[in-house]
Amino acid sequence: MNYPQVRPRRLRRSKAVRDLVRETEIDLSHLIYPLFVVPGAGIKQPVAAMPGVFRFSGDTLLKEIAEIWELGIRAIILFGAGSPADPAGTAAYDPGQPVQAALRAVKDRYPGLLLITDVCLCGYTTHGHCGLVEGEEILNDPTLEILARTAVSHAAAGADIVAPSDMMDGRVAAIRKALDHAGHTNTSILSYAVKYASSFYGPFRDAACCAPSFGDRRTYQMDPGNTREALKEAQLDLTEGADILMIKPALAYLDIIRMVKENTLNPVFAYNVSGEYAMIKAAAVAGYLNENDAVKETLLSMRRAGADRIITYHAKDFACYAE
Ligand code: PBG
Repeated sequence: MNYPQVRPRRLRRSKAVRDLVRETEIDLSHLIYPLFVVPGAGIKQPVAAMPGVFRFSGDTLLKEIAEIWELGIRAIILFGAGSPADPAGTAAYDPGQPVQAALRAVKDRYPGLLLITDVCLCGYTTHGHCGLVEGEEILNDPTLEILARTAVSHAAAGADIVAPSDMMDGRVAAIRKALDHAGHTNTSILSYAVKYASSFYGPFRDAACCAPSFGDRRTYQMDPGNTREALKEAQLDLTEGADILMIKPALAYLDIIRMVKENTLNPVFAYNVSGEYAMIKAAAVAGYLNENDAVKETLLSMRRAGADRIITYHAKDFACYAE
């Protein structure tokens, strides 16, 4: 059968019928909101190149969380920034730092809010790399213990899920072992399993750290030209005990999201990163496109590619969009 019996437009002729046959949905329950927490009080600093994103101190963070809870957001990922830095990133696992303090405060007041933490050293090291450094080399194995201690400190403070973003080999296994040893057997690991060395992290580096003081991250983050390596990273992390896999960035890597989804059985998340957010915001401010429509279409593309959930700075705006 073909035209004129077959007419694809029949299923597009009204909103009701389009809604009826839509294959992929995007709503607030799919979104996780990133928040940045810094030492001090009364602070709400705008982040350059990310209009609408701020760095909060503990007190103003609680106000922000009251607002997003009211808007219906039910999952956040916390990043620490502005803590004292040293070459070994020791503040990352200090229970007195803003992330750990915020976890305790928020867990208490919002038991229904899912708390995820980014586990990495780059916000806490003087050199800004995600691991320990010797000369020009980023050391793998000695970094694992510090990452593991950091994850345990987050779990102890109330994190439901820890999310290592450092890209050291073997970190998921090291973190799982340390969590279990400390009795946190129910704390999940959301692994940034497939993380590319991307130019789209630029604006984030103003928000939470962490441009490396020398070199770049290409000896640990993945080469953007590689596809099969993504599957290898995903499979290794599953073997090491990852509960959820993440692909990052999202928009330029939709093919990778699809491939990981089709070849694994665990939930697959995507990180709609700072540079992706900045692009849409900048174009919207210039009047070049309709922000709401562009955001919905972009997030929908990640869902269509196979992302079960998306970490996105757009979540708060999205919660305010009309149908
Ligand atoms: C830390 C980390 C980064 C991001 C999340 N965790 C920066 C990086 O690896 O360079 C990027 C997030 C974003 O761009 O929104 N390792």
